[in-house]
Amino acid sequence: MKKIIISMIPLFFLCSASMSMAEKSDIKKHWASAESSVIAGDEQSALEQLKAKMPTYIGIDNCKVCHMPHFDSWVTTRMSKAFDLLKPGVRTKAKREVGLDPNRDYTKAPECIHCHTTGYGKPGGFVSVEKTPEMIDVQCEMCHGPGSLYAEMMLKKRGTYTRNDFMKVGGMTMPSADNNVCTQQCHNQNSPFISSGFEFKFEDRKASGTHRHDIKYIDMPFDW
Ligand code: HEC
Ligand code: HEC
Ligand code: HEC
Repeated sequence: MKKIIISMIPLFFLCSASMSMAEKSDIKKHWASAESSVIAGDEQSALEQLKAKMPTYIGIDNCKVCHMPHFDSWVTTRMSKAFDLLKPGVRTKAKREVGLDPNRDYTKAPECIHCHTTGYGKPGGFVSVEKTPEMIDVQCEMCHGPGSLYAEMMLKKRGTYTRNDFMKVGGMTMPSADNNVCTQQCHNQNSPFISSGFEFKFEDRKASGTHRHDIKYIDMPFDW
């Protein structure tokens, strides 16, 4: 049975040529959950079901309702100001040193914004400052993954949280020194400011670039 499923994947993707690369890679990621519909033989309905099951980006306002202490400490980090760096006249010396034009507005440059905003090019993610001003900067979902399914589930569950809910049902991620979420997505040489000898020190960055890590459910600021 597994073989049949795998051999059907290319057909499945051909049927949906209008999809973006990001959508296709998200679908691949969530493929496992579509297996049963595909086995039932209706590819189009499997595709629809799968799209409905795929998490989308919802923005930090939808996280902070439950995670205010994380939000308050994230605001003090450079991650919460990452978008400003793309504006003209900001960090002029550093930009000049790596051959960028310090007077250019990079806030619309696709080659920059995919690392300085949240979910660029993906469902629910950053489009432009005019259309999605709430998706600027490196927010929770850049590190933990798109949160629509997880947040909806959490709002319903009331009090019975498990790590499995977060990872499997919600489809979220926990960056670690081993899974390379940080270096694969952003802290790599596609950034004009990162050169070949660069070493990403996970524990140091976790301490300075994320949020406080001493908050447990019991400290959550409301009657959840
Ligand atoms: C309805 C409330 C609610 C919403 C909305 C919510 N969370 Fe949570 N989240 C929780 C609770 C409760 C926990 C469990 C905390 C604990 O046990 O310490 C949790 C845990 C987490 C964890 C830790 C997972 C683990 O297994 O250690 C992360 C990361 C997280 N949330 C991120 C987010 C992000 C990102 C968003 C926005 C997309 C979000 N949360 C929205 C309530 C919520
Ligand atoms: C692959 C992801 C990625 C891309 C693409 C990217 N950046 Fe960044 N940028 C980063 C990261 C990560 C840092 C922080 C580097 C560090 O602290 O190690 C950063 C830092 C910066 C800084 C601060 C540098 C300093 O030393 O003060 C500026 C300014 C900046 N980026 C502008 C840009 C511009 C303009 C572009 C497009 C031409 C761009 N970035 C493209 C990831 C990226
Ligand atoms: C720059 C990346 C980054 C951003 C942005 C970020 N986190 Fe995290 N988060 C992490 C890392 C790294 C861990 C810890 C992983 C570990 O210790 O294994 C973590 C852990 C957590 C945990 C588990 C408990 C803890 O405190 O360690 C929760 C809850 C959480 N994050 C929620 C959030 C919320 C809510 C936001 C947005 C306000 C957010 N995170 C933004 C990287 C990030």
